Order: sequence, then C-alpha cells, then structure tokens
Amino acid sequence: MFFDPGSHKQHGLRHDPFKAIVSPRPIGWISSVSADGRHNLAPYSFFNAMSYGPPIVAFGAGNRPGGGKKDSIRNIEETGEFVHNVVSYALSDKMNETSVHIPHGESEFEHSGLEGLPCTKVKPLRVKGSPIHLECRYMQTVDLPSWHEGGSNSMIIGEVIGIHIDEAVIKDGLVDVLTYQPVSRLGYFDYAHITDVFAVARPKE
Ligand SMILES: Cc1cc2nc3c(=O)[nH]c(=O)nc-3n(C[C@H](O)[C@H](O)[C@H](O)COP(=O)(O)O)c2cc1C
Repeated sequence: MFFDPGSHKQHGLRHDPFKAIVSPRPIGWISSVSADGRHNLAPYSFFNAMSYGPPIVAFGAGNRPGGGKKDSIRNIEETGEFVHNVVSYALSDKMNETSVHIPHGESEFEHSGLEGLPCTKVKPLRVKGSPIHLECRYMQTVDLPSWHEGGSNSMIIGEVIGIHIDEAVIKDGLVDVLTYQPVSRLGYFDYAHITDVFAVARPKE
C-alpha cells in the first residue's frame, strides 16, 4: 500500500495510521507555570530527547480546540521554563486526566488530585509520585505548518538543567525501567508499558 498523508480515501483504513507508525513514543508530561503563578500540567506524546550533551528535549503541540496556543506553550514562552515528569504505569490514568481542556489559569494538578513538589532550579511544580523529573530551560519554538485553516503547530525545545531521580528506581547503579515501567503512546487509544527488556551489544568497529 502507498498513500499521500492526509488522504483518507487513499489509505482506506479505519483511522490515519501515522501515530501508530511512529510508536512507541515517550509521553512528555509537561508542567509549566504562567507569569502570574498559575500551575499547569498536560501530556504531549510528540516528545523525545534530541541530544545528550547537553541534554535537550523537544515536544510538538497543536492548537487548543477553537484556536489559539495551548496553555503549556503560552506559559513556557512567557516564563522560559518547564518540567518533564516521567509517566510511570501507576500514573497512567492521572496523566490522561490532565489532558482535559480546562480554562487558561485553572490547574490540572487540582483537577486530577495530583500534588506538586517544588523544583530546584525552575518555578513550575513537579508531579509527586513521578519517578523522574527533568527541569528544563526553554530554548526556542519552531513554527510548523498546519493543515487546519488558521491553525498552527509548534515544536518547543528546551535544555535539561536539573534531573531528579527517585532512589527507589535505581538498581545496581542503573535506572531500572522494570521498576517504574514508563508508559508510552501507541496509535489510536493504545498505550504500552515496559515489562521486558533485552540488551544488544554494539558491533565492533
Ligand atoms: C497521551 C496523550 C498525548 C498527547 N499528546 C499531545 C501532543 O503531542 N501534542 C498536542 O498538541 N496535544 C497532545 N495531547 C493533548 C493535550 O494533552 C491536551 O490538548 C491538553 O489539554 C493540553 O493542555 P494545555 O493547554 O494545558 O497545555 C495529548 C493527550 C494525551 C492524553
């Protein structure tokens, strides 16, 4: 099968398969705060690490339904900071609850009954119970095209400037994904968590 993206008639499938094809994706669970101090939390699965030295992460956002930038993007561009909270299997439902569109300024922390902990170098809160938090300094927004008239997509890039790791997930000097089981996004309404790990040695040069 071959088709042009966006041409539903051509692929003939029940849903656009693109998000299922680029999967599994880690879920950026992004906390931010507005200039007037209102805390925000939302999942973004167009998320990944872009480099290691220095550590840089990026995530992609569309518009709010009805138009305009999503709250996370507004906050991050206003205040220059955000936090990525790793979603453990135990937190999957809470993560999903924080995807609701509530009015700008209302907090998803309160809405979903999550507690926020202070960060070390940045103002947004980090999610209590999340095993790992990446404190990030906003670097830039890359504007991306949108198929929707008047819409926009953006890629938000940030440098990781502080890392919190729960000691309970460190085993033998390594971060143990089998302990906290990070959740990833597949296509459709599907998710995955890690229950099996295998190692592969790099080929000798
Ligand atoms: C698992 C999951 C992944 C999501 N990934 C994205 C994404 O990559 N980009 C996006 O714009 N919205 C994504 N959403 C929807 C946002 O979380 C949702 O629009 C949210 O209300 C945005 O919140 P904010 O306006 O407080 O930033 C995702 C939702 C879920 C449940």
